[in-house]
Parts: sequence; structure tokens; C-alpha cells
Amino acid sequence: MNDITEGARFTAATLRRRKRDSVPICCLTAYDAPSAEIAENAGVDLLLVGDSLGMTMLGFDSTVPVTLAMMQHHAAAVVRARRRAWVVVDLPCGSYQSSPEQAYGSAVQLLQQSGCDAVKLEGGAVMVETVRFLAARGVAVVAHLGLLPQSIHQLGDYRRQATDAAAADQLREDARLMAEAGALALVLESIPASLAREVTAALPIPTIGIGAGGGCDGQVLVWHDLLGLSAHQPPFAPPYCDLRATAHDAIRHWCDDVRRHRFP
Ligand code: KIV
Repeated sequence: MNDITEGARFTAATLRRRKRDSVPICCLTAYDAPSAEIAENAGVDLLLVGDSLGMTMLGFDSTVPVTLAMMQHHAAAVVRARRRAWVVVDLPCGSYQSSPEQAYGSAVQLLQQSGCDAVKLEGGAVMVETVRFLAARGVAVVAHLGLLPQSIHQLGDYRRQATDAAAADQLREDARLMAEAGALALVLESIPASLAREVTAALPIPTIGIGAGGGCDGQVLVWHDLLGLSAHQPPFAPPYCDLRATAHDAIRHWCDDVRRHRFP
């Protein structure tokens, strides 16, 4: 059963029911009104305005340069197009790490100025008090563990995380603490499938995986990866079509027609 195609608005309550009833959650990034409209009409439950937009839309080489103003701009466009999906917006690098109060201010700015439903933030134990602070004040928070792209300058590369026993134990503990602090869902990025499955089984909140195997409660993909628009395709996300080639061929065809006086 899909409560989205039935016309009901997806809410935090829907999210909890999905976990209870083991109904998979489909989450796709969206960065503008047309992508939100297409994704939602195709049956996506959650639209994630990811700070990946820094790389997919704005030409940065990481998510680090993305600002709150950029997120607000793209989130507002997505919210204008959505009818039913739950819209989650990334708190960008530097907008939440220094204190729970800073995080609350940034979250409220996104909630009020874009009309989104929830915010997502990266980080484990160090962010637990912030998640608790936000949740206690009525903010819907999604936590993000595993590969944390905002820490790329510290990590050095985008390799798989939690691959040794100590790091896996830390992730298990972080996940438990996040749920206990009031996170409504947990994104698990680039961790071993067996660990993601174990964490999913242990948690009362849904996990949404990316590069974390099939054992999560839902899956999230980046719009450009799913549709074959990315210049570099991640190994865990084979494209479902080749929009890059389709767009290239259409534009080339049109240029050819213009030069040969066949258009208009
Ligand atoms: O920014 C983003 O698109 C994300 C997903 C990769 C989960 O955080």
C-alpha cells in the first residue's frame, strides 16, 4: 500500500507507520520545482533537498561551500512544487555544529522561509545533544551517520565507513543515541550492508540507506545518479536511464537543425 499515491500527505506519522508496517520508504534528492514535481508524481515519499546540490547543481567540488541561503533558495522551490511528499532539507556545513542554539536558529530559518517539514544534520555522538535540543522544541530531525560528506577535508576521500570493529561499534552506539535523542529517521551512508541491516533491526526509527545495502527501511538516491546525469556514477547506484546522453543528443540535434535552417 502506498499512502502517497492515495493522495494523503506524507508526515512524520506516516514515517512511523512505514517502520511499523515494514513498508519501504523511497527518498530522492530534489533541488528545484520540476525535479520535485516529477519525483513526487512518480511515487517518491520523501524529497531530500540535499546539500549535494553544491556538487550536482552549483559546480562545487564538495558540499562544504554550501550556505544556508543556498539551501533556503532550493528548498523553497521544492516546497512550491510538492503536493504530498515529506520535504527534508540539509542543514549545511557551518550552520549547526557550533551549538544547539545555532542549529535551532538555522532549522527554524529553513522551516519558516522554505516551508519544509524536517531538517537533516550530519554527525554522531557529538551531535546528539543538538538533536535532543531540536526535537524537544518540536523540530523534525533526520540524523545522518556513516560517510559524512561535510567532513571531506578531514576524511580525505569518500570511502566506505565503519569497516573495522571499533568504528562499527561507534556507529551502533551513535544510531541508538540518535533515536533516543528524538531523531525521526536515520540516513546511513556508505557503510557495510550487514551493519546497516543490524542497526535497522535494532532501531525504533526508520533507516534510509545510500550505499548501505538492501537491509534498510528505505533508500535514498541522488537525482543525478538515478537518472544518469552524473559525470561520475557511484558504484552502488547504477543509473535507471541515460538522461545525460538523451539531453546531449537532443541539443546536438537542435543545433544541427538551426545551422541547416531546419528550425524553426
Ligand atoms: O546531500 C545529499 O544528497 C545527501 C544524501 C546523499 C543522503 O545527504
